[in-house]
Amino acid sequence: MRTLFDQDPSPPSREPLEDGAVLLRGFVTPDAPALIEQVTLIAQQAPFRHLVTPGGHTMSVAMTNCGRVGWVSDRTGYRYDPVDPDTKRAWAAMPRVFLDLAARAAAAAGFADYDPDACLINRYVAGAKLSLHQDRDEKDAWAPIVSVSLGLPATFLWGGKRRADPVRRMRLESGDVVVWGGPARFVYHGVAPLKDGDHPLTGSTRINLTFRKVF
Ligand code: SIN
Ligand code: FE2
Repeated sequence: MRTLFDQDPSPPSREPLEDGAVLLRGFVTPDAPALIEQVTLIAQQAPFRHLVTPGGHTMSVAMTNCGRVGWVSDRTGYRYDPVDPDTKRAWAAMPRVFLDLAARAAAAAGFADYDPDACLINRYVAGAKLSLHQDRDEKDAWAPIVSVSLGLPATFLWGGKRRADPVRRMRLESGDVVVWGGPARFVYHGVAPLKDGDHPLTGSTRINLTFRKVF
Protein backbone atom coordinates (compact mmCIF):
# COMPACT_ATOMS: atom_id res chain seq x y z
CA MET A 1 0.00 0.00 0.00
CA ARG A 2 1.25 3.50 -0.79
CA THR A 3 1.62 5.83 2.14
CA LEU A 4 2.50 9.48 2.44
CA PHE A 5 6.10 8.42 2.87
CA ASP A 6 6.72 6.46 -0.32
CA GLN A 7 5.24 8.75 -2.94
CA ASP A 8 7.24 9.66 -6.03
CA PRO A 9 9.79 12.36 -5.22
CA SER A 10 8.17 14.74 -7.72
CA PRO A 11 4.68 13.71 -8.84
CA PRO A 12 3.25 15.62 -11.85
CA SER A 13 1.88 19.01 -10.93
CA ARG A 14 0.33 21.94 -12.73
CA GLU A 15 1.44 25.54 -12.32
CA PRO A 16 -0.58 28.12 -14.23
CA LEU A 17 1.73 30.87 -15.55
CA GLU A 18 -0.96 33.13 -16.96
CA ASP A 19 -4.10 32.91 -19.10
CA GLY A 20 -3.19 30.39 -21.86
CA ALA A 21 0.08 29.20 -20.31
CA VAL A 22 0.87 26.42 -17.87
CA LEU A 23 3.89 24.56 -16.55
CA LEU A 24 3.26 20.80 -16.25
CA ARG A 25 5.96 19.54 -13.92
CA GLY A 26 7.10 15.96 -14.49
CA PHE A 27 4.53 15.46 -17.25
CA VAL A 28 6.79 13.36 -19.51
CA THR A 29 9.20 11.93 -16.93
CA PRO A 30 8.11 8.29 -17.54
CA ASP A 31 8.59 8.76 -21.31
CA ALA A 32 11.91 10.62 -21.18
CA PRO A 33 14.13 7.64 -22.12
CA ALA A 34 11.93 6.82 -25.13
CA LEU A 35 11.99 10.45 -26.24
CA ILE A 36 15.78 10.61 -26.03
CA GLU A 37 16.03 7.39 -28.04
CA GLN A 38 13.97 9.03 -30.79
CA VAL A 39 16.10 12.19 -30.67
CA THR A 40 19.19 10.04 -31.28
CA LEU A 41 17.55 8.44 -34.34
CA ILE A 42 16.37 11.80 -35.70
CA ALA A 43 19.86 13.28 -35.30
CA GLN A 44 21.33 10.41 -37.29
CA GLN A 45 19.15 11.50 -40.20
CA ALA A 46 19.50 15.27 -39.66
CA PRO A 47 22.55 16.05 -37.51
CA PHE A 48 22.47 18.86 -34.92
CA ARG A 49 23.93 22.09 -36.30
CA HIS A 50 24.53 25.65 -35.14
CA LEU A 51 22.37 27.92 -37.26
CA VAL A 52 23.36 31.45 -38.22
CA THR A 53 20.91 34.29 -37.57
CA PRO A 54 20.02 36.89 -40.20
CA GLY A 55 22.34 39.23 -38.25
CA GLY A 56 25.28 36.86 -38.78
CA HIS A 57 25.47 35.48 -35.22
CA THR A 58 26.07 31.73 -34.81
CA MET A 59 23.63 30.33 -32.24
CA SER A 60 25.08 28.61 -29.16
CA VAL A 61 22.19 26.12 -29.13
CA ALA A 62 22.51 23.29 -31.68
CA MET A 63 19.31 22.41 -33.55
CA THR A 64 17.63 19.81 -35.68
CA ASN A 65 13.98 19.08 -36.53
CA CYS A 66 11.44 16.41 -37.26
CA GLY A 67 7.99 16.71 -38.79
CA ARG A 68 6.55 17.99 -42.05
CA VAL A 69 8.61 21.17 -41.86
CA GLY A 70 11.61 22.28 -39.83
CA TRP A 71 12.59 25.67 -38.43
CA VAL A 72 15.78 26.99 -39.96
CA SER A 73 17.71 30.25 -40.01
CA ASP A 74 20.40 31.67 -42.25
CA ARG A 75 21.61 35.06 -43.47
CA THR A 76 18.38 35.50 -45.47
CA GLY A 77 16.03 35.07 -42.49
CA TYR A 78 14.03 32.54 -40.45
CA ARG A 79 11.68 30.09 -42.15
CA TYR A 80 9.98 26.70 -42.01
CA ASP A 81 11.42 24.43 -44.66
CA PRO A 82 10.19 20.96 -45.73
CA VAL A 83 13.78 20.19 -46.74
CA ASP A 84 16.82 20.12 -44.45
CA PRO A 85 19.21 22.62 -46.06
CA ASP A 86 22.23 20.60 -44.79
CA THR A 87 21.24 17.19 -46.18
CA LYS A 88 18.80 18.35 -48.92
CA ARG A 89 16.38 15.68 -47.67
CA ALA A 90 13.02 15.81 -45.93
CA TRP A 91 13.14 15.86 -42.13
CA ALA A 92 12.38 12.64 -40.25
CA ALA A 93 8.68 12.03 -39.65
CA MET A 94 7.42 12.98 -36.22
CA PRO A 95 7.52 9.84 -34.03
CA ARG A 96 4.18 8.65 -32.69
CA VAL A 97 5.39 9.06 -29.09
CA PHE A 98 6.16 12.76 -29.81
CA LEU A 99 2.71 13.41 -31.28
CA ASP A 100 0.93 11.60 -28.46
CA LEU A 101 2.76 13.48 -25.72
CA ALA A 102 2.40 16.85 -27.41
CA ALA A 103 -1.35 16.32 -27.83
CA ARG A 104 -1.74 15.11 -24.23
CA ALA A 105 0.18 18.09 -22.85
CA ALA A 106 -1.78 20.55 -25.01
CA ALA A 107 -5.07 18.98 -23.85
CA ALA A 108 -3.96 19.22 -20.21
CA ALA A 109 -3.42 22.94 -20.83
CA GLY A 110 -6.88 23.35 -22.37
CA PHE A 111 -6.00 23.09 -26.08
CA ALA A 112 -7.95 20.19 -27.63
CA ASP A 113 -7.04 18.40 -30.89
CA TYR A 114 -3.47 19.67 -31.06
CA ASP A 115 -1.84 18.45 -34.26
CA PRO A 116 1.65 19.95 -34.59
CA ASP A 117 3.46 19.81 -37.92
CA ALA A 118 6.92 20.75 -36.66
CA CYS A 119 9.18 19.79 -33.78
CA LEU A 120 12.33 21.84 -33.29
CA ILE A 121 14.91 19.97 -31.22
CA ASN A 122 17.34 22.15 -29.28
CA ARG A 123 20.56 20.85 -27.70
CA TYR A 124 22.26 22.94 -25.00
CA VAL A 125 25.74 22.40 -23.56
CA ALA A 126 27.16 24.41 -20.65
CA GLY A 127 27.05 28.11 -21.48
CA ALA A 128 24.53 27.73 -24.34
CA LYS A 129 21.54 30.06 -24.12
CA LEU A 130 18.55 31.35 -26.02
CA SER A 131 17.94 35.08 -25.88
CA LEU A 132 14.47 36.44 -25.13
CA HIS A 133 12.28 36.00 -28.23
CA GLN A 134 8.73 35.38 -29.44
CA ASP A 135 7.83 32.37 -31.61
CA ARG A 136 6.19 34.20 -34.48
CA ASP A 137 7.14 32.40 -37.69
CA GLU A 138 4.00 30.19 -37.55
CA LYS A 139 0.78 30.94 -39.44
CA ASP A 140 -1.34 29.52 -36.63
CA ALA A 141 -1.34 32.28 -34.00
CA TRP A 142 -3.55 30.45 -31.48
CA ALA A 143 -2.41 26.81 -31.28
CA PRO A 144 0.06 26.37 -28.45
CA ILE A 145 3.78 25.91 -28.34
CA VAL A 146 4.50 22.72 -26.38
CA SER A 147 8.01 22.75 -24.95
CA VAL A 148 9.50 19.60 -23.38
CA SER A 149 12.62 19.64 -21.19
CA LEU A 150 14.94 16.61 -21.05
CA GLY A 151 18.25 16.10 -19.30
CA LEU A 152 20.12 18.85 -17.47
CA PRO A 153 18.00 21.50 -15.71
CA ALA A 154 17.72 25.02 -17.10
CA THR A 155 16.51 28.43 -16.06
CA PHE A 156 13.57 29.36 -18.28
CA LEU A 157 12.88 33.07 -18.80
CA TRP A 158 9.20 33.98 -18.98
CA GLY A 159 8.50 37.58 -19.91
CA GLY A 160 5.47 39.42 -21.22
CA LYS A 161 4.09 40.43 -24.59
CA ARG A 162 6.56 43.28 -24.90
CA ARG A 163 10.30 42.75 -24.87
CA ALA A 164 10.73 45.26 -22.04
CA ASP A 165 8.19 43.53 -19.73
CA PRO A 166 9.48 42.02 -16.46
CA VAL A 167 10.92 38.52 -16.76
CA ARG A 168 10.28 35.62 -14.35
CA ARG A 169 12.95 32.95 -13.93
CA MET A 170 11.79 29.34 -13.53
CA ARG A 171 13.82 26.19 -13.10
CA LEU A 172 12.89 23.51 -15.64
CA GLU A 173 13.84 19.92 -14.88
CA SER A 174 13.89 16.84 -17.07
CA GLY A 175 10.29 15.80 -17.75
CA ASP A 176 8.77 19.27 -17.34
CA VAL A 177 6.54 20.65 -20.11
CA VAL A 178 5.58 24.27 -20.69
CA VAL A 179 2.53 24.97 -22.88
CA TRP A 180 1.61 28.44 -24.08
CA GLY A 181 -1.02 29.39 -26.64
CA GLY A 182 -4.15 31.47 -27.22
CA PRO A 183 -3.85 34.70 -25.26
CA ALA A 184 -0.28 33.79 -24.17
CA ARG A 185 0.94 32.73 -27.61
CA PHE A 186 3.28 35.69 -28.15
CA VAL A 187 4.89 35.89 -24.73
CA TYR A 188 8.64 36.58 -24.85
CA HIS A 189 10.67 33.67 -23.50
CA GLY A 190 14.22 32.37 -23.45
CA VAL A 191 16.76 30.20 -21.64
CA ALA A 192 19.59 31.45 -19.38
CA PRO A 193 23.11 30.08 -20.00
CA LEU A 194 23.11 26.37 -19.11
CA LYS A 195 25.07 25.31 -16.03
CA ASP A 196 27.60 22.51 -16.20
CA GLY A 197 26.33 19.11 -15.08
CA ASP A 198 25.97 15.43 -15.73
CA HIS A 199 22.56 13.85 -16.29
CA PRO A 200 21.94 10.09 -16.43
CA LEU A 201 19.82 10.50 -19.57
CA THR A 202 21.70 13.10 -21.61
CA GLY A 203 25.19 13.45 -20.08
CA SER A 204 26.44 17.03 -20.26
CA THR A 205 23.52 18.33 -22.32
CA ARG A 206 19.94 19.54 -22.10
CA ILE A 207 17.52 18.59 -24.88
CA ASN A 208 14.38 20.62 -25.55
CA LEU A 209 11.58 19.59 -27.90
CA THR A 210 9.46 22.47 -29.14
CA PHE A 211 6.26 21.52 -30.95
CA ARG A 212 4.54 24.01 -33.22
CA LYS A 213 1.45 24.16 -35.38
CA VAL A 214 2.88 26.05 -38.32
CA PHE A 215 0.10 25.95 -40.94
C1 SIN B 1 12.55 27.71 -27.53
O1 SIN B 1 12.09 28.77 -27.14
O2 SIN B 1 12.51 27.37 -28.73
C2 SIN B 1 13.19 26.71 -26.57
C3 SIN B 1 12.88 26.89 -25.15
C4 SIN B 1 13.64 25.90 -24.29
O3 SIN B 1 14.70 25.40 -24.68
O4 SIN B 1 13.16 25.61 -23.17
FE1 FE2 C 1 10.86 29.89 -28.55
